[in-house]
Amino acid sequence: MNLSVNIAGVTLKNPVMPASGTFGNGREYAEFVDINRLGAVVTKSVSIKPQLGNPPCRITETASGILNSVGLQNAGVDAFLRDDLPFLKQFDTRVIVNICGHTIDEYAAVAEALLGTGADLLELNISCPNVAEGGLSFGVDPKTVQRVVAAVKKRSGQPLIVKLSPNVTSISEIAAAAESAGADAISLINTLLGMKIDIKRRKFALPRKVGGLSGPAIKPVAVRMVYEASRAVRIPIIGMGGIMTGEDAVEMMMAGASAVAVGAANFRKLTAAADVLDELIVFMNENGLNDITELSVML
Ligand code: FUM
Repeated sequence: MNLSVNIAGVTLKNPVMPASGTFGNGREYAEFVDINRLGAVVTKSVSIKPQLGNPPCRITETASGILNSVGLQNAGVDAFLRDDLPFLKQFDTRVIVNICGHTIDEYAAVAEALLGTGADLLELNISCPNVAEGGLSFGVDPKTVQRVVAAVKKRSGQPLIVKLSPNVTSISEIAAAAESAGADAISLINTLLGMKIDIKRRKFALPRKVGGLSGPAIKPVAVRMVYEASRAVRIPIIGMGGIMTGEDAVEMMMAGASAVAVGAANFRKLTAAADVLDELIVFMNENGLNDITELSVML
């Protein structure tokens, strides 16, 4: 059975990876999951300087999902290159480094710092809803998307995946803008803006009031947006949003994704991404499929 997929010229041995921010930088999970089985590992967002993130509470449960407001906490690109990348490079998997910034120049500077370091692909995070500067503010206007993508492409070496937000009116327009500025692939969806109020304490559950909703609640939105984006661009799509099972992954690939990322499910079960892969293989066997690419032509 052929499970390998090609994302922007990089071969992944299978299409399943954890979503950024749900798998640490691998170390926390390595004791429980055989990382060699995954098609790729996607890191937590890396910024040019260390970031403390938002004050607690940062994660709160909702029906069929979670709201997060982490705020892109990370130790900065120097620490990442010293401590995390060498750890990840021990495994037989691809390393996708998710990058973030407060300004276009900061995004480009992180990409430049990763040049020639062994990171296989970069994922540009222009969709985090939990920071005042950068993140989502770069991902909702097509012209801004083009500016940041073009600037990062100029100073980066690896193929660039652009991670899109669902908090837009037309995902097709944003996806097309990313492609026209040189994106080599897109990934979607990041989290949906949400809010929760603790009615007993008469307080917002999250100090920033709003957070990003993920988990099974958002899967139908993700499938719809992956489908729409796949009709708007020719570059490959990594689909994510509420994938909990192999059948969810199949649905995302039938909608137009070439690969899938498993996010919130990793918090519920440490082996979620590897389990999704196993279940995907079961589906292919049961349906007489020999090549993963056959899934995308089933609709
Ligand atoms: O708050 C966070 O760190 C979330 C990041 C994201 O959604 O990209």
